[in-house]
Amino acid sequence: MVNIDTCLMVHGNHGICYIQDCFSALKSLPNQSFALCLTDLPYNILTTKVRNYRNRPVLKREIEEYDNNIPNYPQFCRDFFTEATRIAKMVVFTCGVQNLESWLSMYPKTFKIIIWYIRNYNEHGDISTFRAYEPLLCYNVPSRSFSFDCWDILIHSGNNAKRKYKHPHPKPVELYDKIMEDLAPDSVVDPFIGSGTTAESAEKHAYIVKKWRGYEKNPRYVSDIEMRIKDGIEGYDQYCKTPHLQQKLQFLVKKK
Ligand SMILES: C[S@@+](CC[C@H](N)C(=O)[O-])C[C@H]1O[C@@H](n2cnc3c(N)ncnc32)[C@H](O)[C@@H]1O
Repeated sequence: MVNIDTCLMVHGNHGICYIQDCFSALKSLPNQSFALCLTDLPYNILTTKVRNYRNRPVLKREIEEYDNNIPNYPQFCRDFFTEATRIAKMVVFTCGVQNLESWLSMYPKTFKIIIWYIRNYNEHGDISTFRAYEPLLCYNVPSRSFSFDCWDILIHSGNNAKRKYKHPHPKPVELYDKIMEDLAPDSVVDPFIGSGTTAESAEKHAYIVKKWRGYEKNPRYVSDIEMRIKDGIEGYDQYCKTPHLQQKLQFLVKKK
Protein backbone atom coordinates (compact mmCIF):
# COMPACT_ATOMS: atom_id res chain seq x y z
CA MET A 1 0.00 0.00 0.00
CA VAL A 2 1.36 3.45 -0.88
CA ASN A 3 0.38 6.93 0.10
CA ILE A 4 0.60 9.51 -2.66
CA ASP A 5 -0.54 13.00 -1.75
CA THR A 6 -3.58 12.43 0.44
CA CYS A 7 -5.04 9.46 -1.42
CA LEU A 8 -4.27 5.95 -0.25
CA MET A 9 -4.03 3.30 -2.94
CA VAL A 10 -4.07 -0.47 -2.76
CA HIS A 11 -2.40 -2.17 -5.71
CA GLY A 12 -3.11 -5.52 -7.31
CA ASN A 13 -1.35 -7.05 -10.32
CA HIS A 14 -3.90 -5.62 -12.74
CA GLY A 15 -5.57 -2.79 -10.92
CA ILE A 16 -5.68 -0.19 -8.18
CA CYS A 17 -8.17 0.66 -5.50
CA TYR A 18 -8.27 4.32 -4.47
CA ILE A 19 -9.37 5.10 -0.95
CA GLN A 20 -11.47 8.14 -1.72
CA ASP A 21 -14.97 9.31 -2.52
CA CYS A 22 -15.82 7.91 -5.94
CA PHE A 23 -17.96 10.73 -7.30
CA SER A 24 -15.24 13.32 -7.90
CA ALA A 25 -12.88 10.58 -9.13
CA LEU A 26 -15.33 9.08 -11.64
CA LYS A 27 -15.77 12.47 -13.29
CA SER A 28 -12.15 12.38 -14.40
CA LEU A 29 -12.55 9.03 -16.20
CA PRO A 30 -13.07 9.19 -19.99
CA ASN A 31 -16.34 8.00 -21.55
CA GLN A 32 -16.63 4.22 -21.98
CA SER A 33 -13.22 3.59 -20.44
CA PHE A 34 -14.33 0.28 -18.86
CA ALA A 35 -16.22 -2.66 -20.29
CA LEU A 36 -18.14 -3.25 -17.05
CA CYS A 37 -19.12 -1.26 -13.98
CA LEU A 38 -19.81 -3.92 -11.33
CA THR A 39 -20.87 -2.66 -7.94
CA ASP A 40 -22.90 -2.95 -4.79
CA LEU A 41 -24.43 0.38 -3.81
CA PRO A 42 -24.89 1.40 -0.20
CA TYR A 43 -28.54 0.42 0.42
CA ASN A 44 -29.32 3.21 2.89
CA ILE A 45 -30.90 0.55 5.07
CA LEU A 46 -30.81 2.14 8.47
CA THR A 47 -33.40 4.68 7.47
CA THR A 48 -35.94 1.92 6.96
CA LYS A 49 -34.58 -0.88 9.15
CA VAL A 50 -33.45 0.96 12.23
CA ARG A 51 -35.50 -1.19 14.60
CA ASN A 52 -33.49 -4.30 13.66
CA TYR A 53 -30.35 -2.75 15.05
CA ARG A 54 -31.62 -1.18 18.25
CA ASN A 55 -30.03 -3.84 20.43
CA ARG A 56 -26.90 -4.25 18.36
CA PRO A 57 -24.97 -0.98 18.76
CA VAL A 58 -21.67 -2.17 17.21
CA LEU A 59 -23.36 -3.41 14.08
CA LYS A 60 -25.50 -0.30 13.93
CA ARG A 61 -22.39 1.90 14.12
CA GLU A 62 -20.64 -0.14 11.41
CA ILE A 63 -23.58 0.02 9.08
CA GLU A 64 -24.08 3.70 9.76
CA GLU A 65 -20.43 4.25 8.92
CA TYR A 66 -20.70 2.79 5.44
CA ASP A 67 -24.31 3.08 4.57
CA ASN A 68 -26.33 5.75 6.20
CA ASN A 69 -24.68 9.01 5.50
CA ILE A 70 -26.59 9.79 2.34
CA PRO A 71 -28.86 12.80 2.70
CA ASN A 72 -30.61 12.59 -0.68
CA TYR A 73 -30.56 8.90 -1.62
CA PRO A 74 -32.54 9.11 -4.92
CA GLN A 75 -30.14 11.79 -6.16
CA PHE A 76 -27.18 9.67 -5.01
CA CYS A 77 -28.54 6.77 -7.11
CA ARG A 78 -29.10 8.96 -10.16
CA ASP A 79 -25.61 10.47 -9.92
CA PHE A 80 -24.12 7.00 -9.69
CA PHE A 81 -26.06 5.67 -12.67
CA THR A 82 -25.30 8.69 -14.87
CA GLU A 83 -21.58 8.28 -14.27
CA ALA A 84 -21.63 4.47 -14.46
CA THR A 85 -23.34 4.45 -17.88
CA ARG A 86 -20.97 7.14 -19.11
CA ILE A 87 -17.73 5.39 -18.10
CA ALA A 88 -18.74 1.76 -18.77
CA LYS A 89 -20.44 -0.13 -21.56
CA MET A 90 -22.30 -2.53 -19.22
CA VAL A 91 -23.43 -1.88 -15.65
CA VAL A 92 -24.37 -4.59 -13.13
CA PHE A 93 -25.23 -3.76 -9.52
CA THR A 94 -27.10 -4.88 -6.43
CA CYS A 95 -29.50 -2.21 -5.22
CA GLY A 96 -31.19 -3.91 -2.23
CA VAL A 97 -34.69 -5.36 -2.29
CA GLN A 98 -36.07 -2.31 -0.50
CA ASN A 99 -34.79 0.01 -3.26
CA LEU A 100 -35.87 -2.09 -6.24
CA GLU A 101 -39.20 -0.38 -6.79
CA SER A 102 -37.65 3.06 -6.71
CA TRP A 103 -34.95 2.03 -9.24
CA LEU A 104 -37.57 0.57 -11.58
CA SER A 105 -39.70 3.70 -11.39
CA MET A 106 -36.69 6.00 -11.94
CA TYR A 107 -35.52 3.95 -14.94
CA PRO A 108 -38.45 2.02 -16.42
CA LYS A 109 -37.64 -0.77 -18.90
CA THR A 110 -33.95 -0.19 -18.50
CA PHE A 111 -32.73 -3.27 -16.68
CA LYS A 112 -32.56 -6.98 -17.05
CA ILE A 113 -33.08 -8.38 -13.55
CA ILE A 114 -31.23 -11.37 -12.17
CA ILE A 115 -32.38 -12.86 -8.90
CA TRP A 116 -29.64 -14.06 -6.59
CA TYR A 117 -31.26 -16.75 -4.47
CA ILE A 118 -29.52 -17.06 -1.09
CA ARG A 119 -30.49 -20.48 0.20
CA ASN A 120 -28.46 -20.10 3.40
CA TYR A 121 -29.26 -16.45 4.12
CA ASN A 122 -30.28 -17.20 7.70
CA GLU A 123 -26.79 -18.49 8.50
CA HIS A 124 -25.42 -15.00 8.14
CA GLY A 125 -26.20 -14.08 11.73
CA ASP A 126 -24.38 -10.77 11.64
CA ILE A 127 -26.52 -9.08 9.05
CA SER A 128 -30.20 -9.67 9.28
CA THR A 129 -30.79 -7.46 6.25
CA PHE A 130 -29.86 -10.40 4.06
CA ARG A 131 -33.00 -11.88 2.62
CA ALA A 132 -33.53 -15.09 0.75
CA TYR A 133 -32.95 -13.19 -2.47
CA GLU A 134 -31.31 -10.05 -3.81
CA PRO A 135 -31.94 -8.47 -7.21
CA LEU A 136 -29.09 -7.66 -9.57
CA LEU A 137 -29.85 -4.89 -12.03
CA CYS A 138 -28.11 -5.31 -15.37
CA TYR A 139 -27.85 -2.52 -17.91
CA ASN A 140 -26.81 -3.09 -21.51
CA VAL A 141 -25.67 -6.68 -21.01
CA PRO A 142 -25.94 -8.67 -24.25
CA SER A 143 -29.05 -10.83 -24.31
CA ARG A 144 -28.28 -14.45 -23.50
CA SER A 145 -25.10 -13.55 -21.60
CA PHE A 146 -26.55 -15.22 -18.52
CA SER A 147 -27.82 -18.76 -18.96
CA PHE A 148 -30.33 -18.49 -16.06
CA ASP A 149 -32.15 -15.56 -14.48
CA CYS A 150 -31.97 -17.00 -10.98
CA TRP A 151 -28.64 -17.84 -9.38
CA ASP A 152 -28.30 -20.06 -6.36
CA ILE A 153 -25.10 -18.85 -4.68
CA LEU A 154 -24.42 -19.36 -0.99
CA ILE A 155 -23.17 -16.62 1.28
CA HIS A 156 -20.27 -17.57 3.50
CA SER A 157 -21.56 -18.62 6.85
CA GLY A 158 -19.53 -18.06 9.98
CA ASN A 159 -18.78 -14.42 9.29
CA ASN A 160 -20.46 -13.92 12.63
CA ALA A 161 -18.22 -15.26 15.40
CA LYS A 162 -14.89 -15.07 13.57
CA ARG A 163 -15.18 -12.42 10.98
CA LYS A 164 -12.59 -12.53 8.29
CA TYR A 165 -13.36 -9.04 7.07
CA LYS A 166 -13.88 -5.77 8.90
CA HIS A 167 -16.55 -4.87 6.38
CA PRO A 168 -19.96 -5.82 7.83
CA HIS A 169 -21.53 -6.75 4.50
CA PRO A 170 -19.04 -8.42 2.13
CA LYS A 171 -20.50 -10.15 -0.92
CA PRO A 172 -19.38 -13.71 -1.69
CA VAL A 173 -16.70 -13.72 -4.37
CA GLU A 174 -18.53 -16.57 -6.15
CA LEU A 175 -21.29 -14.13 -7.09
CA TYR A 176 -18.83 -11.82 -8.82
CA ASP A 177 -16.93 -14.79 -10.33
CA LYS A 178 -20.11 -15.81 -12.12
CA ILE A 179 -20.55 -12.32 -13.55
CA MET A 180 -16.92 -12.20 -14.75
CA GLU A 181 -17.26 -15.58 -16.42
CA ASP A 182 -20.61 -14.88 -18.07
CA LEU A 183 -19.82 -11.37 -19.29
CA ALA A 184 -16.07 -11.82 -19.86
CA PRO A 185 -15.28 -8.07 -19.57
CA ASP A 186 -11.69 -7.04 -20.30
CA SER A 187 -11.91 -4.18 -17.80
CA VAL A 188 -13.97 -3.56 -14.66
CA VAL A 189 -14.60 -0.60 -12.38
CA ASP A 190 -16.26 -0.70 -8.95
CA PRO A 191 -17.06 2.71 -7.41
CA PHE A 192 -18.16 1.17 -4.05
CA ILE A 193 -15.72 -1.68 -3.60
CA GLY A 194 -16.13 -2.25 0.17
CA SER A 195 -14.00 -5.24 1.21
CA GLY A 196 -12.67 -5.55 -2.36
CA THR A 197 -14.76 -8.42 -3.76
CA THR A 198 -14.54 -7.03 -7.31
CA ALA A 199 -10.76 -6.76 -6.99
CA GLU A 200 -10.47 -10.37 -5.78
CA SER A 201 -12.62 -11.69 -8.60
CA ALA A 202 -10.86 -9.54 -11.23
CA GLU A 203 -7.41 -10.75 -10.12
CA LYS A 204 -8.67 -14.33 -10.08
CA HIS A 205 -9.91 -13.89 -13.66
CA ALA A 206 -6.82 -12.07 -14.89
CA TYR A 207 -6.93 -14.09 -18.12
CA ILE A 208 -10.18 -12.22 -18.90
CA VAL A 209 -9.94 -8.98 -16.92
CA LYS A 210 -6.85 -7.07 -17.96
CA LYS A 211 -7.58 -3.95 -15.92
CA TRP A 212 -9.65 -3.17 -12.84
CA ARG A 213 -10.22 -0.05 -10.77
CA GLY A 214 -11.93 0.38 -7.41
CA TYR A 215 -12.94 3.18 -5.06
CA GLU A 216 -13.75 2.97 -1.38
CA LYS A 217 -14.17 6.01 0.80
CA ASN A 218 -13.59 4.28 4.14
CA PRO A 219 -9.92 3.55 5.01
CA ARG A 220 -11.06 1.03 7.62
CA TYR A 221 -11.46 -1.56 4.83
CA VAL A 222 -7.92 -1.27 3.44
CA SER A 223 -6.78 -4.47 5.15
CA ASP A 224 -9.82 -6.32 3.73
CA ILE A 225 -9.01 -5.08 0.23
CA GLU A 226 -5.37 -6.14 0.59
CA MET A 227 -6.45 -9.58 1.80
CA ARG A 228 -8.92 -10.01 -1.05
CA ILE A 229 -6.39 -8.94 -3.69
CA LYS A 230 -3.91 -11.47 -2.32
CA ASP A 231 -6.58 -14.21 -2.37
CA GLY A 232 -7.48 -13.27 -5.93
CA ILE A 233 -3.87 -13.49 -7.13
CA GLU A 234 -3.43 -16.87 -5.43
CA GLY A 235 -6.80 -17.96 -6.80
CA TYR A 236 -5.64 -17.13 -10.33
CA ASP A 237 -2.62 -19.44 -10.01
CA GLN A 238 -4.72 -22.31 -8.70
CA TYR A 239 -7.53 -21.65 -11.15
CA CYS A 240 -5.31 -21.86 -14.19
CA LYS A 241 -3.75 -25.12 -13.08
CA THR A 242 -7.06 -27.01 -12.73
CA PRO A 243 -7.55 -29.18 -15.87
CA HIS A 244 -11.31 -28.67 -16.32
CA LEU A 245 -10.82 -24.95 -15.89
CA GLN A 246 -8.29 -25.01 -18.70
CA GLN A 247 -11.17 -25.98 -20.97
CA LYS A 248 -13.35 -23.25 -19.53
CA LEU A 249 -10.54 -20.78 -20.10
CA GLN A 250 -10.31 -21.73 -23.77
CA PHE A 251 -14.08 -21.29 -24.04
CA LEU A 252 -13.93 -17.86 -22.42
CA VAL A 253 -11.07 -16.71 -24.61
CA LYS A 254 -13.07 -17.84 -27.69
CA LYS A 255 -16.17 -16.07 -26.36
CA LYS A 256 -14.23 -12.80 -26.30
C1 LIG B 1 -22.58 -2.24 0.09
S1 LIG B 1 -20.95 -1.82 0.42
C2 LIG B 1 -20.01 -2.72 -0.78
C3 LIG B 1 -19.63 -4.09 -0.29
C4 LIG B 1 -18.77 -4.85 -1.30
N1 LIG B 1 -19.54 -5.26 -2.46
C5 LIG B 1 -18.15 -6.08 -0.69
O1 LIG B 1 -18.42 -7.20 -1.16
O2 LIG B 1 -17.40 -5.94 0.27
C6 LIG B 1 -20.85 -0.19 -0.19
C7 LIG B 1 -19.50 0.49 0.07
O3 LIG B 1 -19.49 1.77 -0.56
C8 LIG B 1 -18.70 2.65 0.23
N2 LIG B 1 -19.07 4.01 -0.15
C9 LIG B 1 -20.22 4.67 0.17
N3 LIG B 1 -20.23 5.88 -0.43
C10 LIG B 1 -19.08 5.98 -1.15
C11 LIG B 1 -18.51 6.97 -2.00
N4 LIG B 1 -19.15 8.12 -2.21
N5 LIG B 1 -17.33 6.71 -2.60
C12 LIG B 1 -16.68 5.53 -2.38
N6 LIG B 1 -17.15 4.56 -1.57
C13 LIG B 1 -18.33 4.77 -0.97
C14 LIG B 1 -19.04 2.26 1.65
O4 LIG B 1 -18.04 2.64 2.58
C15 LIG B 1 -19.20 0.74 1.54
O5 LIG B 1 -18.02 0.07 1.90
